[in-house]
Amino acid sequence: MTLQPCLRCVTLLLAPAILLVTGPQALREPAQSAGILVGAAVRPSLFSEAAYSATLAREFNMVEPEDAMKWWTVRRSAGTFDFGEGDGVVRFAQAHGMRVRGHCLVWDHNNPEWLVQGHFTPAQLSRMLQEHITTVMKHYAGQVFAWDVVNEALDENGRVKDSPWYNQPGIGLSEQGPAYIEQAFRWAHEADPQALLFYNENGGEGLNRKSDAIYAMVKDFKRRGVPIDGVGLQLHISQLDLDTAAIAANIARLTALGVQVHITELDVSLPLDSSGLVRNDDLLRQAEVYRGVVRACLQNPGCTAIQTWGFTDKYSWIGSHSHGTRGAALPFDRAYKPKPAYDAIFEELSGKRNRLR
Ligand code: XIL
Repeated sequence: MTLQPCLRCVTLLLAPAILLVTGPQALREPAQSAGILVGAAVRPSLFSEAAYSATLAREFNMVEPEDAMKWWTVRRSAGTFDFGEGDGVVRFAQAHGMRVRGHCLVWDHNNPEWLVQGHFTPAQLSRMLQEHITTVMKHYAGQVFAWDVVNEALDENGRVKDSPWYNQPGIGLSEQGPAYIEQAFRWAHEADPQALLFYNENGGEGLNRKSDAIYAMVKDFKRRGVPIDGVGLQLHISQLDLDTAAIAANIARLTALGVQVHITELDVSLPLDSSGLVRNDDLLRQAEVYRGVVRACLQNPGCTAIQTWGFTDKYSWIGSHSHGTRGAALPFDRAYKPKPAYDAIFEELSGKRNRLR
């Protein structure tokens, strides 16, 4: 009798052990089964950090550049387009089977100084904005499947905010409410008819004046054939008693208009003590907020993507945004270890297999 090992037997015997060692699947697997995209905002300068790249590629099936496709990156100087950083995001996504969301083409923030201080006329600004939308979208046509065309254009009362594109001095549609937003969507559709076009907003996720105004605008756009495909709900959350029923109701009324909803910038920031630490029970409450948001999205077949703004607490905009008072907002800790929030997202995604699209 030979003592040749039965390779298949060894493999079979080891299989449960391997499963135990590797732990649960990554988020992108249950997300795919549930028919939903799970994404993270990324900084291409961090792709060289092994743990950053490995976690991102393992867990997510969508990425969005945090800053790399904004005016202040692409248009560092007037008359030039620099696609280097954005192209890096696309290359990473293609190498790991991920979709790319583009962010953003029209915003009153994160614009270069030469634009803000340029004293351009409305006619010049109109030409510049059309040129920007057209050049950027054509460059990424077929690579970026959805764009935040206009970002954060409304105030808390639902009125159109002051902006270089609206009324300072604007592109020639000043004091005409959402007319400049409509114009941007029309230019975007001409530039890349295949791309999904989103209006992205913060603070209008539940039911309030801002979300009422978004709803009214989208309803009007759909009625008049303005090319809009979706609404992005940012969801930068700082309260742990979030009303997720109101978010579900808002998602329901938006999708009933025939547009998709993406959760685009989810993070749930926690108060930090004087040593920069968070309370353990806050981490558990944070997980329940993540769970509620993921559940509100999964309930509705028109909510087709869930994305966090970053993914590791090591790199998050919350620190600078809150002047160091808040942090720990994301599903992975600073050492890339999954937090209770990660488990909550994973469990919700896993419970919704074969969701109808
Ligand atoms: C933030 C980025 O995370 C920061 O790196 C940058 O300094 C400022 O912008 N809403 C948006 C995002 O739509 O573009 C913002 O991103 C966060 C708020």
